[in-house]
Amino acid sequence: MTELLQTIAPPSRSLPVVIFGAGSIVTDAHLPAYAKAGFTVAGIYDPDRAKAEAILPPGAVAYASMADATAAGTAVVYDLAVPPAAIPGILRTLPEGAVALIQKPMGSDLKTADEIIGILRTRNIRAAVNFQLRFAPMALALKDAIAQGQLGDLVDFDAWLALDTPWHLWAFLADLPRVEILLHSIHYLDFMRDLLGNPLGIAARTMGHPSSTVSNTRTAMMMDYGPEVRANLSINHNHAFGRKFQACEFRICGTKGAAYMKLGVNLDYPRGEPDELWLNTGAGWEQVPLIGNWFIEAFVGRITQVMRFAVGEDDALQGSAEDAWHTMALVEAAYDSAAAPLYPIRTAPDA
Ligand SMILES: NC(=O)c1ccc[n+]([C@@H]2O[C@H](COP(=O)([O-])OP(=O)(O)OC[C@H]3O[C@@H](n4cnc5c(N)ncnc54)[C@H](O)[C@@H]3O)[C@@H](O)[C@H]2O)c1
Repeated sequence: MTELLQTIAPPSRSLPVVIFGAGSIVTDAHLPAYAKAGFTVAGIYDPDRAKAEAILPPGAVAYASMADATAAGTAVVYDLAVPPAAIPGILRTLPEGAVALIQKPMGSDLKTADEIIGILRTRNIRAAVNFQLRFAPMALALKDAIAQGQLGDLVDFDAWLALDTPWHLWAFLADLPRVEILLHSIHYLDFMRDLLGNPLGIAARTMGHPSSTVSNTRTAMMMDYGPEVRANLSINHNHAFGRKFQACEFRICGTKGAAYMKLGVNLDYPRGEPDELWLNTGAGWEQVPLIGNWFIEAFVGRITQVMRFAVGEDDALQGSAEDAWHTMALVEAAYDSAAAPLYPIRTAPDA
């Protein structure tokens, strides 16, 4: 098997990072990823300053105000890891011309995504969105194999999840009308778009489960990519019947070959299992040895590409906010579809 790219090449120099939010994703993924990438965190702003102080990496400061956090102007990269509702307010305060990375989702709905795009365009803020699954080692390797033509033309994308997700760990989900697609499957929709582009349409159903009060935890989505490409996501976060038949996997098939991806982080959560990538490009299934997992290597890749752009070594931001808007539009269409009837079935013979 040819060597496949699994990382984004580091830039020759980097800018310090200013982080907004001192919550669990910053502690669990952003800070370890930035340390691994060798990027400096200048400081963290959180209205709960004690939270920022408690997680500061060496040399970083806990800012007392937004003004302090933005005092470095465009000489830093801004990293927003806050609840979606806080994103527009922070973007309005960032210096014009800044480079920013925004945690997903890009707002709680498409209306807020529109608002965010408006602010970014008006203030000339160049932003990427942290749909980081695109940068997982298995995802980069798969995209490299596809770019080399090893799979031929993609004709099938099938995501199958049967998990027992501990939603109770996230108390804030309790009252949200949109959970499964907006906060979880959104990663898979974004990754699917990265491989196949924008679908023409979507049919979706999303629902909760009698065992919990979370609004939606089970989803079925079928995308319209025209007559040659089938794309489906089947997602059940309430498969609480033991590990044996649980799954978190993608099957991606082309005209010449196929790929199997196992997304280990969601299995045996929160400990997780290693990711897997297998390719069959004509000589049987071969496992690609991976250099790491979605958590946290994908966060390393995501910030590295932003940094390459910020220092002028990449011309464009991959997964820019303008691109991510289409993932938000797909999520919105999924919820709209889920609220509308599917194609009706006749209930009696036309005798
Ligand atoms: N990409 C991923 O895989 C991934 C995973 C988990 C969470 N997330 C996203 O990251 C975001 C944060 O998630 P979390 O789990 O860390 O939440 P959290 O509730 O643990 O932390 C959020 C923090 O943001 C702070 N905050 C609120 N308003 C702020 C403001 N205006 N300025 C600065 N800080 C502010 C809060 O005080 C809190 O400390 C959410 O949008 C979530 O959807 C993404």
